[in-house]
Amino acid sequence: MKDLDVLVLAAGRGTRMKSQLPKVLHPIAGRPLVYYPVRAALDLGARSVVVVVSPDARDAVEAALAQHLPGAPLAYAVQTQALGTGDAAKAGLAKLPGSGHVLILYGDTPLLEAAHLQPVFEPLARGAALSFLTFLAPDPTGYGRVVRDASARVQAIVEERDLQSDAQRSIAEVNAGIYAGRADVLHAALAAVEPKNAQGEYYLTDVVHEVARIHEVGTARLDPEVLAGVNDRQQLGQAEQLIFARIRGRLARSGVTIVGEPHIDDTVEVAPDARIETGVRLRGATRIGAEGLVDVGSVLEDAEVGNGAVIKPYSVIMQSRVGAGAVLGPFCHLRPGSDVGDAAHIGNFVETKNARLGPGAKANHLTYLGDVDVGARSNVGAGTIVCNYDGFAKRRTTIGEDVFIGSDSQLVAPVSVGDGAYVGTGTTVTQNVPAGALAIGRARQENRPDYARGLRERLRERAAVEKKR
Ligand code: UD1
Ligand code: CA
Repeated sequence: MKDLDVLVLAAGRGTRMKSQLPKVLHPIAGRPLVYYPVRAALDLGARSVVVVVSPDARDAVEAALAQHLPGAPLAYAVQTQALGTGDAAKAGLAKLPGSGHVLILYGDTPLLEAAHLQPVFEPLARGAALSFLTFLAPDPTGYGRVVRDASARVQAIVEERDLQSDAQRSIAEVNAGIYAGRADVLHAALAAVEPKNAQGEYYLTDVVHEVARIHEVGTARLDPEVLAGVNDRQQLGQAEQLIFARIRGRLARSGVTIVGEPHIDDTVEVAPDARIETGVRLRGATRIGAEGLVDVGSVLEDAEVGNGAVIKPYSVIMQSRVGAGAVLGPFCHLRPGSDVGDAAHIGNFVETKNARLGPGAKANHLTYLGDVDVGARSNVGAGTIVCNYDGFAKRRTTIGEDVFIGSDSQLVAPVSVGDGAYVGTGTTVTQNVPAGALAIGRARQENRPDYARGLRERLRERAAVEKKR
């Protein structure tokens, strides 16, 4: 339809969410709720898409959509007061030319995709002035019921709180909240709608009754799963699970091995031949390269993982980069600003922050690497701590290439260890170590021959005396 404009109504109060955050901004698989219907509208190739927002949430909704749909040609209409969906539609229509056709969507139907919307246009092609989508709800509670006459012609939509009889209550066919119609007909019908109902609101659903008196109103029936609206946290959670399942399906079809039910945001990219295991959570701008493995229980946010990298179970990676062929975990923690080079290794109970490890560098056990550069192929021994913080300021440490840091060493920042240097086990490095040097800073060991037996006897006697007291 060439002359199609779309309204997405997103100005409601969202009371049932019981939240400070506007309902349409609640995240669902990494995107704000309202993103999904807006994307569906854009995918239809409409002439214009107008999002109706409340004055309070306007800036936040605009910013969120600009972030998730950069450059999308969206317009906004402000509904001054949340007087109901009919009033919101009026605010939106005021921004449109008044001729052609209008599709109206609600901002709280995240499962909807452009392909699902086609049936709403079919009755219009057959001459109807207005059309809307319905579905058979297993539990119709909360939805507007579709009331038909004896010849099955649509008469009206009756909202839950305005149901007149048990017969109406038991109607299983409900309104999905997706309408398409002639702009002039919608204008006229909305002007006639009055807030005479249990909620004292202007109902968009009342246009159906208004139009049905004069024109043909058509409907099309769809699968309830794609039409479910989100009004509370439980429905939000259910819808999110369905979106996660769709994302798993999409990735699997593109060549990714998905084991079990990992939760992968819509914003995440996974290359073919990668494997994502059960219990994994991938968020934000995370990208997993080809043949990468993210094993059980790992959580990655804004993480860039190179081709063939292996993230062993229960690792946490935030705002960091992992090079191709690197091996991480199990149980490692990359905090923001970590950059692990190609084929580098980060082992269990290793924490990094603002740390750069060159290609092939290794820190395999029980280590803290904060504000540090580690050169290519250097080996950081078990239990090493970079002391980057003195309680007031953070300072940087530099470790060159091919360096060996012996186990249980501390590097007190700011300090540097030159290329090829060797730090003896248990050294507290407080001065720069020149390239190629050995740094060793620990008490020298002394062996006293046969001393152990006498020592034990003295200790045993002392304990016996203390016990008698
Ligand atoms: C609405 C329909 C109901 C339908 C159901 C489908 C009405 C009166 N009822 O009920 O028939 O079965 O959706 O999910 O339309 N909004 C505004 N401004 C307002 C009020 C709402 O922009 O003043 C927006 C909301 O942000 C939301 C959408 O309109 O995105 C729907 O509002 P909501 O209150 O969720 O309507 P339902 O009670 O779900
Ligand atoms: Ca709703």
